[in-house]
Amino acid sequence: MSACNTPQPIIVGCGFLGKYLATKLVEKQQNPICLVRSQSSYQQLLKQKLRGVTCDLDAPLSANPEFNLSGNQVYYFAPPSNSDNDDHRIDNFLALCKTNPPSKIVYISTSGVYGDCQGNWVTEESPLAPISTRAKRRVYAEKALLAYCAQHNCSYIILRVGGIYGPGRLPIERLKDITVICPEEAPHSNRIHVADLAGVCFSAMSNNIQNEVINVADGHSTSMSDYYYKIADFAGLPKPACVPLSEAQDKLSAGMLSFINESRRLSIDKMNTLLDVEIQFPTLELGLEDCFRNS
Ligand SMILES: NC(=O)c1ccc[n+]([C@@H]2O[C@H](COP(=O)([O-])OP(=O)(O)OC[C@H]3O[C@@H](n4cnc5c(N)ncnc54)[C@H](OP(=O)(O)O)[C@@H]3O)[C@@H](O)[C@H]2O)c1
Repeated sequence: MSACNTPQPIIVGCGFLGKYLATKLVEKQQNPICLVRSQSSYQQLLKQKLRGVTCDLDAPLSANPEFNLSGNQVYYFAPPSNSDNDDHRIDNFLALCKTNPPSKIVYISTSGVYGDCQGNWVTEESPLAPISTRAKRRVYAEKALLAYCAQHNCSYIILRVGGIYGPGRLPIERLKDITVICPEEAPHSNRIHVADLAGVCFSAMSNNIQNEVINVADGHSTSMSDYYYKIADFAGLPKPACVPLSEAQDKLSAGMLSFINESRRLSIDKMNTLLDVEIQFPTLELGLEDCFRNS
């Protein structure tokens, strides 16, 4: 806690999303502490006049005089480590929290934890069936967080987020050589503009709710193919080549293939009910318009 007993926001993994949120917090007279791993990211934070601290979650952590977790608000945005199916980063972080419990942790997970839902709507009650290693690590991290919060005086909000996009984070370079599934057969996927997601994170922390899992997306599921096609249109570039599903194994990159195994539409009813947010960019068209205006 800060001297005047107002919880101090701490953003663990202050990258693309974290910096959006940090700017929002500064506008609200909150002064977040922003944790990053590298010196280059630390220097970027300083340039943006944000309060940066370097720390490496890949190693066991010890108390750091530059930030105090106790009673404070943690936004945990660091991705899992990529060594196996576990997330050793969150283990290291939660070990540090044991002696200094934060008051609340808002954790960014992914909708990948639901696995393939064959294009059906997915609520927070849907079973977890992760397919990719990435998603398995998220399930591990969610469980670790739940176990920690059950034993310590700390509440949590887990946000299961679709694909994040925003100004400066569009796959424009990839348009040249990517092949996608033709739109009529393309699996459903979900997205959220980074500015909207930052608003959701703030609301999840500041609203009087605790210990909830909430899906987060813009409410208009689309497909990866549609995403690339729309970006091409906005950028004035040719649309990428497409192939039918029957040719996917031979013609798609490993990265794109991983997307065709999973199709789901995220229900955001719970988000709309519990969180005080108005999504500014409910469709890709509106979101991309903003991205191209601001790039
Ligand atoms: N991209 C998507 O579509 C998507 C979808 C759902 C969920 N997510 C998740 O949403 C979260 C936020 O995404 P983002 O785009 O803001 O991520 P990002 O830009 O890659 O930022 C990640 C941050 O975590 C820090 N970090 C990474 N490893 C670390 C370590 N070992 N120790 C300390 N800090 C470490 C990075 O610091 P350095 O810059 O110094 O390395 C960076 O500040 C991530 O967990 C991401 O996996 C992403």
